[in-house]
Amino acid sequence: MTEMKGERVRSLVDQAREVRDRAYAPYSKFPVGAALYCEDGSVILGCNVENASYPLGLCAERAAVATAVTEGHHRFLAIAVVGSGPRPLTPCGGCRQVLSEFGDLWIIAASGTDGTIRQYRLSQLLPESFGEADLL
Ligand code: THU
Repeated sequence: MTEMKGERVRSLVDQAREVRDRAYAPYSKFPVGAALYCEDGSVILGCNVENASYPLGLCAERAAVATAVTEGHHRFLAIAVVGSGPRPLTPCGGCRQVLSEFGDLWIIAASGTDGTIRQYRLSQLLPESFGEADLL
């Protein structure tokens, strides 16, 4: 896959930043937004959804994947993620594994406080990952 165009990257980051406002994060006070870019051009959004039973909280990336699959999308090109801290937010380990189910996406990690954006391939962040082929 060729590098994501700058305009597309900026648009995905903007959408992730907007949906971050809908996060339900009363415990961590760390809202996260994600914008999942599908092969057909659709953009599916997700935010983190926490729970008083802390481990049941859902990350923004996984919320976006669940909504996308529910809406019939399985082919993803990229995901933009915006957290609340200065460091561009790369998906947590569990989300990397969940995303890897759907291929070697571009991961667009954006700072929650300034304009810093970093771009990775998922395989850089989760090398030698466990997948379907390992079950055969
Ligand atoms: N969080 C995400 O939504 N995505 C990540 O990749 C890292 C962490 C959420 C989980 C929790 O609601 C809050 O950020 C603090 O960890």
